[in-house]
Amino acid sequence: MNENIKIFLIGFMGSGKTAYGKPLAELLNIAFFDLDEYIEKKYNCPIMKIFIEEGEKKFREYEQNALYEITACSRSFVLATGGGTPCHYNNIAYMNMQGISIYLKCTVDELYENILLSDPERPLLQGKRGNELHRHVKQLLSIREPVYEQAKIILTGESHNPQKIFEIITSAVQSDILSSV
Ligand code: S3P
Repeated sequence: MNENIKIFLIGFMGSGKTAYGKPLAELLNIAFFDLDEYIEKKYNCPIMKIFIEEGEKKFREYEQNALYEITACSRSFVLATGGGTPCHYNNIAYMNMQGISIYLKCTVDELYENILLSDPERPLLQGKRGNELHRHVKQLLSIREPVYEQAKIILTGESHNPQKIFEIITSAVQSDILSSV
């Protein structure tokens, strides 16, 4: 695919943004970025340490800087954002202006399971386990969901595989949805 195509994968922690993003970028034959990884390299510091030592507000500034930098410097890419990226500084509007945002929508139970299987020691979930973790995921998701749902494309569980996302994007390009991007 030769188009100038900027794809922002958004969704809650544990929704699979990185897991689906990498193979999707390969299928589209374009670059892949993981926003957290980019921030860690740029500031030479793990995300957890940034939260602990500089606080969430500073992290959100770094996050927006990184989002703008990647978007400005690369013609085509798949970017796996952080779970909170679209919800701060109106980043969702910026992403929608710059390219195609795709929300990987999951249920609270799916997110809870995925978080347990991957890394429950994320800064915003630290120390939470069992029912407390489940309740926290549910509460934070209900606050964030109205923002996530501003994405241009919303994919529910059954379409969460790179091939399916690839087909949806390809057909969106063909039907010229992207002419307005
Ligand atoms: C965050 C999600 C994390 C990371 C940071 C904050 C959030 O990314 O950016 O810990 O606010 O939901 P993942 O969604 O990749 O876990």
